[in-house]
Amino acid sequence: MGELLRARGVSKSYALRGRHVDVLREVDLDVRGGQVTALVGRSGSGKTTLLHILGLLTTPDRGTVFVQDVDTSGLGDGALADLRRSRLGFVFQSYNLLPQHSALRNVLLPYTGRRSAGEARARALLARVGLAERAGHLPGELSGGEQQRVALARALVNDPPVVLADEPTGNLDEASEDVLLGLFRELADEGRAIVLVTHNPVVSQAADVVHRLGEGATATERSTA
Ligand SMILES: Nc1ncnc2c1ncn2[C@@H]1O[C@H](COP(=O)(O)OP(=O)(O)OP(=O)(O)O)[C@@H](O)[C@H]1O
Ligand SMILES: [Mg+2]
Repeated sequence: MGELLRARGVSKSYALRGRHVDVLREVDLDVRGGQVTALVGRSGSGKTTLLHILGLLTTPDRGTVFVQDVDTSGLGDGALADLRRSRLGFVFQSYNLLPQHSALRNVLLPYTGRRSAGEARARALLARVGLAERAGHLPGELSGGEQQRVALARALVNDPPVVLADEPTGNLDEASEDVLLGLFRELADEGRAIVLVTHNPVVSQAADVVHRLGEGATATERSTA
């Protein structure tokens, strides 16, 4: 399966209290359908920054992200938002669920399909992540791991070819972690590209490709491709 996402020469730096920090330096990355890709590296190495750039949430200082064949560097905000909604599912490190809405409503929020089909789809996705019984709960009535799974269901609601997730197992016990890894594998087997940021060796060992960030460059450590 081909590349669903490509980063070319992506650089990002921040100026913080007079100090200039190169977070990403000339990063090239190919993300293929059918594979789980893990981004690893010490805290502060730029994993979240790179994931947000791949997810078209942050603009790189230099370099380009291609979503399938689309060069995103020249696109305006509206076109970027359309591309994000249709092609990319994003699970944030902090979930970003809306607290006043039920799990079901949260999953439906980004949904762009036929209205009449939405609720059934959202319920099916909640069932897929093991939360069929929690559809009516507010985020505040859910555990961290449950909120994370609602966020994953929301990321899948428009059936995106690419799913990006920041520390998706950060709040899970071992059994839930296994279930989630199984789910990511299923999603990859459907032809999707899964990109996970993780500190967890169990997760990176389950990945097909591991990119280690640090010192401004990524190195591909292992690829079964
Ligand atoms: N908006 C910002 N302004 C200034 N500096 C930032 C900003 N966002 C990130 N940084 C800096 O960029 C570096 C990389 O941050 P990033 O969040 O990508 O790291 P990370 O690898 O995801 O770390 P962690 O494993 O702790 O989540 C950090 O040193 C951080 O302080
Ligand atoms: Mg991070």
